[in-house]
Amino acid sequence: MTKLIIDCDPGVDDAVALFLAFASPDLEILAVTTVGGNVGADLTARNARVIRQIAGREDVPVHAGATRPMVRAPVEADHFHGESGLGDLAVFEPTAPLAAGHSVDVIVETLMTQPAGVVTLAVTGPMTNLALAMRREPAIVDRIGHVVIMGGARTEGGNITASAEYNIFADPHAAQVVLSSGCRCVVLGLDATHQVRATDERVAALRALGTPAAQAAAEVIAFSNGIERDLVGGKSAPLHDPCVIAYILAPQLFTTRPCRLEVETGSALTLGHTAVEFRLADPAAATVRWVTQANADGVFALLNDALAAK
Ligand code: RIB
Ligand code: CA
Repeated sequence: MTKLIIDCDPGVDDAVALFLAFASPDLEILAVTTVGGNVGADLTARNARVIRQIAGREDVPVHAGATRPMVRAPVEADHFHGESGLGDLAVFEPTAPLAAGHSVDVIVETLMTQPAGVVTLAVTGPMTNLALAMRREPAIVDRIGHVVIMGGARTEGGNITASAEYNIFADPHAAQVVLSSGCRCVVLGLDATHQVRATDERVAALRALGTPAAQAAAEVIAFSNGIERDLVGGKSAPLHDPCVIAYILAPQLFTTRPCRLEVETGSALTLGHTAVEFRLADPAAATVRWVTQANADGVFALLNDALAAK
Protein backbone atom coordinates (compact mmCIF):
# COMPACT_ATOMS: atom_id res chain seq x y z
CA MET A 1 0.00 0.00 0.00
CA THR A 2 1.29 3.47 -0.90
CA LYS A 3 0.37 6.22 1.59
CA LEU A 4 -0.58 9.21 -0.52
CA ILE A 5 -1.59 12.85 -0.28
CA ILE A 6 -3.07 14.21 -3.53
CA ASP A 7 -2.69 17.99 -3.88
CA CYS A 8 -4.76 19.18 -6.81
CA ASP A 9 -6.76 21.91 -8.54
CA PRO A 10 -9.72 20.06 -10.19
CA GLY A 11 -9.78 20.74 -13.14
CA VAL A 12 -10.92 18.15 -15.67
CA ASP A 13 -7.67 16.17 -15.80
CA ASP A 14 -7.26 16.37 -12.01
CA ALA A 15 -10.73 14.81 -11.87
CA VAL A 16 -9.59 11.83 -13.95
CA ALA A 17 -6.48 11.52 -11.76
CA LEU A 18 -8.72 11.45 -8.68
CA PHE A 19 -10.99 8.81 -10.24
CA LEU A 20 -7.94 6.65 -10.94
CA ALA A 21 -6.58 7.09 -7.42
CA PHE A 22 -9.95 6.54 -5.71
CA ALA A 23 -10.38 3.29 -7.66
CA SER A 24 -6.91 1.90 -6.89
CA PRO A 25 -6.81 -0.48 -3.90
CA ASP A 26 -3.00 -0.21 -3.71
CA LEU A 27 -3.28 3.44 -2.64
CA GLU A 28 -4.03 4.55 0.93
CA ILE A 29 -5.15 8.12 0.26
CA LEU A 30 -4.51 9.96 3.53
CA ALA A 31 -5.99 13.22 2.24
CA VAL A 32 -6.95 15.16 -0.84
CA THR A 33 -5.74 18.75 -0.46
CA THR A 34 -6.93 21.36 -2.93
CA VAL A 35 -5.48 24.66 -4.12
CA GLY A 36 -6.66 27.56 -6.24
CA GLY A 37 -5.48 27.07 -9.81
CA ASN A 38 -7.50 26.08 -12.86
CA VAL A 39 -10.46 27.74 -11.15
CA GLY A 40 -10.80 29.48 -7.80
CA ALA A 41 -10.04 27.69 -4.54
CA ASP A 42 -13.70 27.44 -3.54
CA LEU A 43 -14.48 25.62 -6.80
CA THR A 44 -11.46 23.29 -6.73
CA ALA A 45 -12.45 22.25 -3.21
CA ARG A 46 -16.10 21.71 -4.28
CA ASN A 47 -15.00 19.81 -7.37
CA ALA A 48 -12.78 17.42 -5.43
CA ARG A 49 -15.81 16.59 -3.25
CA VAL A 50 -18.00 16.09 -6.37
CA ILE A 51 -15.49 13.59 -7.80
CA ARG A 52 -15.12 11.90 -4.41
CA GLN A 53 -18.92 11.43 -4.21
CA ILE A 54 -19.20 10.01 -7.75
CA ALA A 55 -16.35 7.64 -6.89
CA GLY A 56 -18.04 6.64 -3.63
CA ARG A 57 -14.99 7.53 -1.55
CA GLU A 58 -16.34 9.82 1.16
CA ASP A 59 -13.93 7.98 3.50
CA VAL A 60 -11.15 10.20 2.12
CA PRO A 61 -10.98 13.69 3.68
CA VAL A 62 -10.88 16.70 1.33
CA HIS A 63 -9.26 19.90 2.62
CA ALA A 64 -9.25 23.34 1.03
CA GLY A 65 -5.97 25.22 0.70
CA ALA A 66 -4.19 28.24 -0.65
CA THR A 67 -6.41 30.67 -2.48
CA ARG A 68 -3.59 32.49 -4.30
CA PRO A 69 0.03 31.98 -5.36
CA MET A 70 2.96 32.87 -3.09
CA VAL A 71 4.02 36.03 -4.93
CA ARG A 72 2.51 36.57 -8.37
CA ALA A 73 -1.14 37.41 -9.10
CA PRO A 74 -3.51 34.46 -9.57
CA VAL A 75 -3.96 33.16 -13.12
CA GLU A 76 -6.73 30.64 -13.82
CA ALA A 77 -7.23 28.23 -16.70
CA ASP A 78 -11.02 28.08 -16.90
CA HIS A 79 -10.78 28.38 -20.68
CA PHE A 80 -9.45 24.80 -20.57
CA HIS A 81 -11.67 23.52 -17.77
CA GLY A 82 -15.00 25.35 -18.17
CA GLU A 83 -16.62 27.77 -15.73
CA SER A 84 -17.28 25.05 -13.14
CA GLY A 85 -13.81 23.58 -13.55
CA LEU A 86 -15.31 20.21 -14.52
CA GLY A 87 -16.19 20.90 -18.15
CA ASP A 88 -19.76 19.92 -19.02
CA LEU A 89 -20.14 17.52 -16.08
CA ALA A 90 -23.38 18.07 -14.16
CA VAL A 91 -22.01 19.40 -10.89
CA PHE A 92 -23.91 19.38 -7.60
CA GLU A 93 -23.37 20.37 -3.97
CA PRO A 94 -21.72 17.28 -2.51
CA THR A 95 -23.25 15.68 0.59
CA ALA A 96 -20.04 15.16 2.56
CA PRO A 97 -18.49 18.45 3.72
CA LEU A 98 -14.93 19.67 3.56
CA ALA A 99 -12.76 18.33 6.38
CA ALA A 100 -11.54 20.82 8.96
CA GLY A 101 -7.98 22.03 8.53
CA HIS A 102 -6.19 24.00 5.87
CA SER A 103 -4.31 21.98 3.25
CA VAL A 104 -0.95 23.40 4.37
CA ASP A 105 -1.54 22.35 7.98
CA VAL A 106 -2.75 18.91 6.90
CA ILE A 107 0.37 18.33 4.79
CA VAL A 108 2.62 19.35 7.70
CA GLU A 109 0.73 17.34 10.33
CA THR A 110 0.51 14.23 8.15
CA LEU A 111 4.20 14.26 7.30
CA MET A 112 5.20 14.93 10.92
CA THR A 113 3.04 12.10 12.30
CA GLN A 114 3.54 9.43 9.65
CA PRO A 115 6.88 7.54 9.75
CA ALA A 116 9.57 9.37 7.78
CA GLY A 117 9.82 8.41 4.15
CA VAL A 118 6.52 6.54 3.78
CA VAL A 119 4.26 9.29 2.42
CA THR A 120 4.15 10.08 -1.29
CA LEU A 121 2.81 13.42 -2.47
CA ALA A 122 1.04 13.62 -5.84
CA VAL A 123 0.92 17.27 -6.94
CA THR A 124 -1.22 18.06 -9.97
CA GLY A 125 -1.72 21.80 -9.61
CA PRO A 126 0.30 24.86 -8.60
CA MET A 127 2.68 23.84 -5.80
CA THR A 128 1.58 26.60 -3.43
CA ASN A 129 0.35 24.32 -0.60
CA LEU A 130 3.49 22.17 -0.52
CA ALA A 131 5.84 25.17 -0.72
CA LEU A 132 4.02 26.93 2.13
CA ALA A 133 4.14 23.70 4.16
CA MET A 134 7.92 23.48 3.63
CA ARG A 135 8.30 27.09 4.74
CA ARG A 136 6.08 26.51 7.79
CA GLU A 137 7.86 23.31 8.86
CA PRO A 138 11.20 22.71 7.07
CA ALA A 139 11.51 19.34 8.83
CA ILE A 140 8.95 17.87 6.43
CA VAL A 141 11.45 18.01 3.56
CA ASP A 142 13.40 15.05 4.97
CA ARG A 143 10.23 13.17 5.91
CA ILE A 144 8.63 13.12 2.45
CA GLY A 145 9.03 9.79 0.63
CA HIS A 146 8.89 11.46 -2.73
CA VAL A 147 6.89 14.02 -4.64
CA VAL A 148 5.42 13.15 -8.04
CA ILE A 149 4.61 16.35 -9.89
CA MET A 150 2.78 17.25 -13.07
CA GLY A 151 4.50 20.41 -14.29
CA GLY A 152 7.00 22.05 -16.56
CA ALA A 153 8.22 21.45 -20.07
CA ARG A 154 11.56 20.99 -21.82
CA THR A 155 11.25 19.86 -25.44
CA GLU A 156 7.52 20.69 -25.68
CA GLY A 157 7.60 24.42 -25.00
CA GLY A 158 4.78 26.01 -23.00
CA ASN A 159 1.00 25.55 -22.92
CA ILE A 160 0.04 28.80 -21.17
CA THR A 161 2.84 30.98 -22.56
CA ALA A 162 5.44 30.28 -25.24
CA SER A 163 7.86 29.02 -22.59
CA ALA A 164 5.88 27.92 -19.52
CA GLU A 165 3.52 25.12 -18.54
CA TYR A 166 0.46 26.18 -16.51
CA ASN A 167 1.16 24.60 -13.08
CA ILE A 168 4.61 26.17 -12.88
CA PHE A 169 3.49 29.47 -14.46
CA ALA A 170 0.63 29.73 -11.95
CA ASP A 171 3.06 29.71 -9.01
CA PRO A 172 6.71 29.74 -10.15
CA HIS A 173 8.03 30.75 -6.71
CA ALA A 174 6.33 27.76 -5.09
CA ALA A 175 7.75 25.47 -7.77
CA GLN A 176 11.25 26.81 -7.13
CA VAL A 177 10.86 26.27 -3.36
CA VAL A 178 9.80 22.64 -3.83
CA LEU A 179 12.23 21.74 -6.61
CA SER A 180 15.22 23.27 -4.79
CA SER A 181 14.31 21.81 -1.39
CA GLY A 182 16.34 18.62 -1.80
CA CYS A 183 13.30 16.34 -1.51
CA ARG A 184 13.09 13.51 -4.06
CA CYS A 185 10.90 14.65 -6.97
CA VAL A 186 9.73 12.95 -10.14
CA VAL A 187 8.48 15.53 -12.61
CA LEU A 188 6.07 14.69 -15.44
CA GLY A 189 6.14 17.69 -17.73
CA LEU A 190 4.50 18.22 -21.08
CA ASP A 191 7.35 16.18 -22.63
CA ALA A 192 5.75 13.13 -20.99
CA THR A 193 2.05 14.02 -20.86
CA HIS A 194 1.87 15.05 -24.51
CA GLN A 195 2.67 11.40 -25.32
CA VAL A 196 -0.56 10.31 -23.56
CA ARG A 197 -3.42 11.42 -25.77
CA ALA A 198 -7.14 10.75 -25.27
CA THR A 199 -8.00 9.56 -28.76
CA ASP A 200 -11.67 9.06 -29.62
CA GLU A 201 -11.11 5.29 -29.48
CA ARG A 202 -9.68 5.50 -25.97
CA VAL A 203 -12.56 7.73 -24.79
CA ALA A 204 -15.10 5.33 -26.30
CA ALA A 205 -13.46 2.37 -24.54
CA LEU A 206 -13.63 4.24 -21.23
CA ARG A 207 -17.28 5.23 -21.75
CA ALA A 208 -18.17 1.63 -22.66
CA LEU A 209 -17.15 0.50 -19.17
CA GLY A 210 -20.47 1.94 -18.00
CA THR A 211 -19.52 2.62 -14.38
CA PRO A 212 -20.31 6.07 -12.87
CA ALA A 213 -16.63 6.95 -12.56
CA ALA A 214 -15.82 5.78 -16.10
CA GLN A 215 -18.78 7.69 -17.53
CA ALA A 216 -17.84 10.88 -15.70
CA ALA A 217 -14.18 10.52 -16.67
CA ALA A 218 -15.12 9.99 -20.32
CA GLU A 219 -17.36 13.06 -20.19
CA VAL A 220 -14.70 15.41 -18.84
CA ILE A 221 -12.09 14.01 -21.23
CA ALA A 222 -14.46 14.51 -24.16
CA PHE A 223 -14.84 18.13 -23.02
CA SER A 224 -11.04 18.47 -23.08
CA ASN A 225 -10.94 17.03 -26.59
CA GLY A 226 -13.40 19.70 -27.69
CA ILE A 227 -11.18 22.41 -26.22
CA GLU A 228 -8.12 20.79 -27.83
CA ARG A 229 -9.83 20.97 -31.21
CA ASP A 230 -11.32 24.46 -30.78
CA LEU A 231 -8.49 26.25 -28.93
CA VAL A 232 -5.35 24.32 -29.70
CA GLY A 233 -6.09 22.97 -33.16
CA GLY A 234 -5.29 19.41 -32.11
CA LYS A 235 -7.39 16.24 -32.16
CA SER A 236 -6.88 14.54 -28.79
CA ALA A 237 -6.18 16.19 -25.46
CA PRO A 238 -3.13 15.13 -23.43
CA LEU A 239 -4.00 13.35 -20.19
CA HIS A 240 -1.74 15.38 -17.90
CA ASP A 241 -2.64 14.73 -14.24
CA PRO A 242 -3.65 11.05 -14.46
CA CYS A 243 -0.04 10.35 -15.51
CA VAL A 244 1.03 11.30 -11.95
CA ILE A 245 -1.18 8.61 -10.40
CA ALA A 246 -0.23 6.17 -13.17
CA TYR A 247 3.46 6.75 -12.35
CA ILE A 248 2.84 6.05 -8.65
CA LEU A 249 0.92 2.87 -9.50
CA ALA A 250 3.14 1.65 -12.36
CA PRO A 251 6.47 3.49 -12.66
CA GLN A 252 7.60 0.91 -15.20
CA LEU A 253 5.34 2.66 -17.72
CA PHE A 254 7.68 5.66 -17.67
CA THR A 255 11.33 6.49 -18.34
CA THR A 256 13.11 9.07 -16.18
CA ARG A 257 16.47 10.87 -16.20
CA PRO A 258 18.28 12.63 -13.33
CA CYS A 259 18.37 16.38 -13.82
CA ARG A 260 18.84 19.78 -12.28
CA LEU A 261 15.58 21.69 -12.67
CA GLU A 262 15.42 25.43 -12.12
CA VAL A 263 12.39 27.69 -12.49
CA GLU A 264 12.40 31.20 -13.95
CA THR A 265 10.90 33.56 -11.35
CA GLY A 266 12.32 36.93 -12.48
CA SER A 267 11.58 37.41 -16.16
CA ALA A 268 8.14 38.62 -17.23
CA LEU A 269 8.75 37.12 -20.67
CA THR A 270 9.68 33.61 -19.52
CA LEU A 271 8.13 33.46 -16.03
CA GLY A 272 7.60 29.82 -15.02
CA HIS A 273 10.00 28.39 -17.57
CA THR A 274 11.58 25.13 -16.39
CA ALA A 275 15.27 24.82 -17.22
CA VAL A 276 15.86 21.05 -17.21
CA GLU A 277 19.60 20.26 -17.26
CA PHE A 278 20.73 16.66 -17.82
CA ARG A 279 24.49 17.45 -17.92
CA LEU A 280 25.35 16.78 -14.29
CA ALA A 281 28.74 16.33 -12.64
CA ASP A 282 27.25 13.65 -10.39
CA PRO A 283 23.95 12.25 -11.73
CA ALA A 284 23.65 9.89 -8.77
CA ALA A 285 23.41 12.89 -6.43
CA ALA A 286 20.44 14.40 -8.27
CA THR A 287 17.20 14.52 -6.24
CA VAL A 288 15.00 15.45 -9.22
CA ARG A 289 14.16 13.13 -12.12
CA TRP A 290 12.51 14.25 -15.36
CA VAL A 291 10.13 11.90 -17.18
CA THR A 292 11.14 11.57 -20.83
CA GLN A 293 8.94 8.69 -22.03
CA ALA A 294 5.41 7.52 -21.23
CA ASN A 295 3.64 4.35 -22.34
CA ALA A 296 0.24 5.73 -23.37
CA ASP A 297 -1.38 2.35 -23.98
CA GLY A 298 -0.22 1.26 -20.54
CA VAL A 299 -1.65 4.37 -18.86
CA PHE A 300 -5.05 3.90 -20.51
CA ALA A 301 -5.06 0.18 -19.69
CA LEU A 302 -4.41 1.07 -16.04
CA LEU A 303 -7.24 3.63 -16.11
CA ASN A 304 -9.70 1.24 -17.76
CA ASP A 305 -8.86 -1.61 -15.37
CA ALA A 306 -9.34 0.66 -12.37
CA LEU A 307 -12.58 2.29 -13.50
CA ALA A 308 -14.15 -0.92 -14.79
CA ALA A 309 -14.76 -1.96 -11.22
CA LYS A 310 -16.14 1.38 -10.14
O1 RIB B 1 -0.49 22.11 -17.85
C1 RIB B 1 -1.38 21.12 -17.39
C2 RIB B 1 -1.69 21.29 -15.96
O2 RIB B 1 -2.31 22.56 -15.75
C3 RIB B 1 -2.70 20.26 -15.42
O3 RIB B 1 -2.44 20.01 -14.07
C4 RIB B 1 -4.02 20.95 -15.59
O4 RIB B 1 -4.99 20.51 -14.61
C5 RIB B 1 -3.65 22.38 -15.30
O5 RIB B 1 -3.69 22.55 -13.90
CA1 CA C 1 -4.23 20.21 -12.44
